[in-house]
Amino acid sequence: MKKRRQTRVQKKRKQALLFIAIGAIALVAIAAAAILSNVAQEGQAFTVEVQPALLSQEGEAGATLFKMNCQVCHGPNAAGSKLGPPLIHDIYNPGHHSDEAFYLAAATGVRQHHWPYGDMPPQPQVAREEVSKIIRYIREMQEANGIVYKPHSM
Ligand code: HEC
Repeated sequence: MKKRRQTRVQKKRKQALLFIAIGAIALVAIAAAAILSNVAQEGQAFTVEVQPALLSQEGEAGATLFKMNCQVCHGPNAAGSKLGPPLIHDIYNPGHHSDEAFYLAAATGVRQHHWPYGDMPPQPQVAREEVSKIIRYIREMQEANGIVYKPHSM
């Protein structure tokens, strides 16, 4: 009778040890995952979460043109990628980067200055009227994501 009780206690101890071991392994795995995801961020993809917007007709046309000409770098929904920054980002609010900055970017490219991606090459295949539609798309997406005009003097 006494013997059986002891073995039951031993069994419980073994179980407890097993739980502790599994817990420790899980903690190490979580820590490793956290470190790795930080490293991935330093691999320079500054992507953001973007909520979809109800687009106007011109905005829809702009979305198509964006996909064809800009998405490869600026990412789906202009949320950024490993090759270019998100445009649905506060630094591209209309007060900081006016529409003219978009026309200029497409026509003449952009010198690296805000991000560590390198220069943006010019996109001469995109006509000015097409850039207008892309701008409409970006502004509608920005607004849907709470990015609105802020004066540059801040
Ligand atoms: C080959 C990659 C690439 C493509 C294609 C591309 N971009 Fe860019 N773009 C970049 C990078 C990289 C930057 C960031 C430069 C910086 O500020 O360091 C940038 C910056 C910009 C800016 C900010 C300009 C400024 O004054 O700071 C705008 C606006 C822009 N892109 C619009 C567009 C539009 C519109 C298209 C499509 C017609 C497009 N880009 C296509 C890579 C690209």
